[in-house]
Amino acid sequence: MTQITEIAPDVFRISTFFSDFNLQFNQFLVRDDEPLLYHTGMKGLFPVVREAVGKLIPTESLKWIGFSHFEADECGALHEWQTIAPDATAVCSFVGKVVSVDDVVALRPARPLNDGEVLTTGKRSFRFMATPHVPHCWDAGLMFEESTGTLFCSDLFHQNGDVEPSTESDVIDRARQTLVEYEQSPLANYLPYTPYTESTLGRLADLKPRALATMHGSTFVGDGSKALGDLAVVYREIFGPKQ
Ligand SMILES: [Fe+2]
Ligand SMILES: [Fe+2]
Repeated sequence: MTQITEIAPDVFRISTFFSDFNLQFNQFLVRDDEPLLYHTGMKGLFPVVREAVGKLIPTESLKWIGFSHFEADECGALHEWQTIAPDATAVCSFVGKVVSVDDVVALRPARPLNDGEVLTTGKRSFRFMATPHVPHCWDAGLMFEESTGTLFCSDLFHQNGDVEPSTESDVIDRARQTLVEYEQSPLANYLPYTPYTESTLGRLADLKPRALATMHGSTFVGDGSKALGDLAVVYREIFGPKQ
């Protein structure tokens, strides 16, 4: 089942729950002069995401497709979207573009964004943050929508379960529990802990986000800086160097 929730004005969370994985896959549609979809979801999810997006905008008007890193749940349906939306262009990191995206999944060349570069879509401005290996993958980056204070944070704050669309309650304990469970499973080592992890999370905290729009779990609405600081502690505990 796919659920649409407006988490900020003209920012829609499109959530599909997979009971087999006890996991939500969330895409975000920002309705603007140049509509932007953040994550496509996997190729197999394309029909339901397309139907949901079609309730919000004419699907052929989609202009931008952003995502964090090259994985199926981030950009697996990029080709399908570019087939039905003739002006849709991927926006991702330079590394993502040249290492994987243009060759494997894009129908047209992606637009690379440099660290700190801003993409304006009308009323909305998306600041691109290069975040190599945060949450994971060399090509990782995130987008921060400045007018609503929304950080589209991909796998950061991942929470298992069919949780509420958004919450003002702390999600750190749920995120920690998910990582602890994954460490005991074939999905262990979900995130790398690198010399850049803490400073990258610090750069994101400096944005002072008011909403943390995660791919898996509830969007957290509240003090995003504090939540990112708390997340850095969790990552260090679970993935950091052991004494
Ligand atoms: Fe990922
Ligand atoms: Fe993901």
